[in-house]
Amino acid sequence: MIDLRSDTVTRPTEAMREAMARAEVGDDVYGEDPTVLELQERVAGLFGKEAALFTPTGSMANVLAVAALVGPGQEVLCEARAHIVRAELGAHGALTGLTTRTWSHPEGQVDLAAIKDMYAPDMGPFFVRTTAISVENTHNFAGGAVLPIDDLQAVRAWATSVGCAVHLDGARIWNAHVATGTPLADYGSVADTISVCLSKGLGAPVGSLVVGTARMVDEARVRRKRLGGGMRQVGVLAAAGLYALDHHLERMAEDHAHARLIAEACGVDPAGVPTNIVVVDVPSAPDVVAAAAEQGVQVGAVGPQRVRLLTHLDISREDAERAAKVLGSILG
Ligand SMILES: Cc1ncc(COP(=O)(O)O)c(C=O)c1O
Repeated sequence: MIDLRSDTVTRPTEAMREAMARAEVGDDVYGEDPTVLELQERVAGLFGKEAALFTPTGSMANVLAVAALVGPGQEVLCEARAHIVRAELGAHGALTGLTTRTWSHPEGQVDLAAIKDMYAPDMGPFFVRTTAISVENTHNFAGGAVLPIDDLQAVRAWATSVGCAVHLDGARIWNAHVATGTPLADYGSVADTISVCLSKGLGAPVGSLVVGTARMVDEARVRRKRLGGGMRQVGVLAAAGLYALDHHLERMAEDHAHARLIAEACGVDPAGVPTNIVVVDVPSAPDVVAAAAEQGVQVGAVGPQRVRLLTHLDISREDAERAAKVLGSILG
């Protein structure tokens, strides 16, 4: 099977498994796992931030990061299809007690005019106060769209001028970095907190990080423990992340090329596919999913008439060519 349902389906390579097996470990709840400490320091440094915290998932990283910026009864603004409002099962409302309002953009981009319009300052005991804006780069449900750094800088400058924080859901910030050449530190400079995932394009089996100031990360550590996310000898997992940063980052350009190849076969303009996600509108998503599976290609339905395909570490050029052929014949 050629599995294009998600970039989370990758399996650790032999070399990654060796790095995991060799990892030095300790009890991370005591802050004594040297490999976790190394990963946290390295990722914080990449984004020019003071500190980072290892978490089991991107969803937990988002909850911890946003909770460091937005309190109970306050609100965070984000795009209507953002992962934090569509795919985290209400975690931010349920666990933090915050509310959300959204702007809509067909390509998942920021809309500063809409943000300015929605923004609510502290008005005492009358209205919900906006304390953060969350942006998602790349934007998953907008087909892996990249948010241009200029737009993010404009949001950051305006948010700072009104005393509002910015969170960056950077589960796939690595793809944005590879696609545009924008330094990771530039992305770090436009946000107070960043969540990043090791288990998507980077190909690690598990793990994400919250990145921010030392104070925010200390708060996140407390909340992580409260949620049952205090982990022990997880240097074996952090080692996979360190290995992935060394060996799987720049190669993502191949995933992006494979995505464009598959897009073209599906009748989607490759110019509109900046990273590793292809969204295709089809007459019947279940029919396309079933027909592709019959020919050895797995794709995911993300709506009754929409399928989504992601390329990743376990998709070779040959796999991409074969998938393009199969999907081209079904959709042609
Ligand atoms: C943009 C974005 N943020 C956060 C997450 C959550 O990551 P996890 O599945 O590790 O909870 C995902 C997962 O696909 C995502 O696409």
